[in-house]
Amino acid sequence: MKKLIVLAAASLALFAQAQTFPGTKPITIVVPFAAGGPTDRVARDLAEAMRKPLGNVSIVIENSAGAGGTIGATKVAKANPDGHTLLLHHIGMASSVALYRKLQYNTLTDFEYLGIINDVPMTLIGKPQLPANTYRDFENYIKANAGKLNIAHAGLGSATHLCGLMWQAAINSKEAMTTIPFGGTGPAMTSLIGGQVDVMCDQTTNTTGQIEAGRVKAFAVTTAKPLTNNKLLKDYPSLQEMGLKGFNLTIWHGLYAPKGTPPAVLAQLNAALKVALKDPEFLKKEEGLGAVVATDGRVDPAGHKAFVTAEIAKLKPVIEAAGKYAD
Ligand code: MLT
Repeated sequence: MKKLIVLAAASLALFAQAQTFPGTKPITIVVPFAAGGPTDRVARDLAEAMRKPLGNVSIVIENSAGAGGTIGATKVAKANPDGHTLLLHHIGMASSVALYRKLQYNTLTDFEYLGIINDVPMTLIGKPQLPANTYRDFENYIKANAGKLNIAHAGLGSATHLCGLMWQAAINSKEAMTTIPFGGTGPAMTSLIGGQVDVMCDQTTNTTGQIEAGRVKAFAVTTAKPLTNNKLLKDYPSLQEMGLKGFNLTIWHGLYAPKGTPPAVLAQLNAALKVALKDPEFLKKEEGLGAVVATDGRVDPAGHKAFVTAEIAKLKPVIEAAGKYAD
């Protein structure tokens, strides 16, 4: 009898949570990179699309940048698990497992997985002052300037970092380029445009506008095949086509809550995420930036977690093989 009363009380508590969440208290989405970069962009557009299905609650973006996304992720892992603090992170959620000797959280057990948001190709881009105009020109320029170039990234564990180390390993550059870390590719892009750094490999969500405006030079895309459906990027070769055997890198973003967030709240957040992923405005914005919004089983918590688990296993040997370029 006592057990029944306890069970009934627990179900009532869950029901009450579902009725009262989110209430009037704002939801904070922690972005583990600087404002003005690609993760920030996805988060702001997603927040706009998730507001309505969550009863027009305000959703605040908090940029908690540093250490390739691990500072923001640590913050959310330790946050109150009431559904009001969420994390929007990308492939760094998986690559950081291999790149960091000691994370302050367990990637697979300290978070509730809410769903994958999108997949985003990357582009290899250079400062506008570079004399090279094609990938082949750029290869020759690198050979002639071995050891003199700077490559920007957004911290150990960032997407730019992962792509940069994979690319340097693939071209087997005799002398590794000097890596210049930033808190996000927002500030890194500013330095690239200004000519303080030479090259960066960054997501199309951040580079599309800059390529279109001629503020940076694009040389190649990181997907296995060229992006034939993308009006702006369709004519750029893939790195694989340029002879970099097996090169294939796509960035993804996912939404997380701290472990222990009540199941009813998680269900509401996942339902709101699914509505947002079908929102015509959100789809239009993502498409315009070369991103593909997720529609497969990864939009469910179990599919999301299985995918990240597989990505951790896939990236570990890639990162280990490219180890000498990883600083
Ligand atoms: C950012 O938002 O600054 C980026 O996603 C950083 C990166 O991982 O390259």
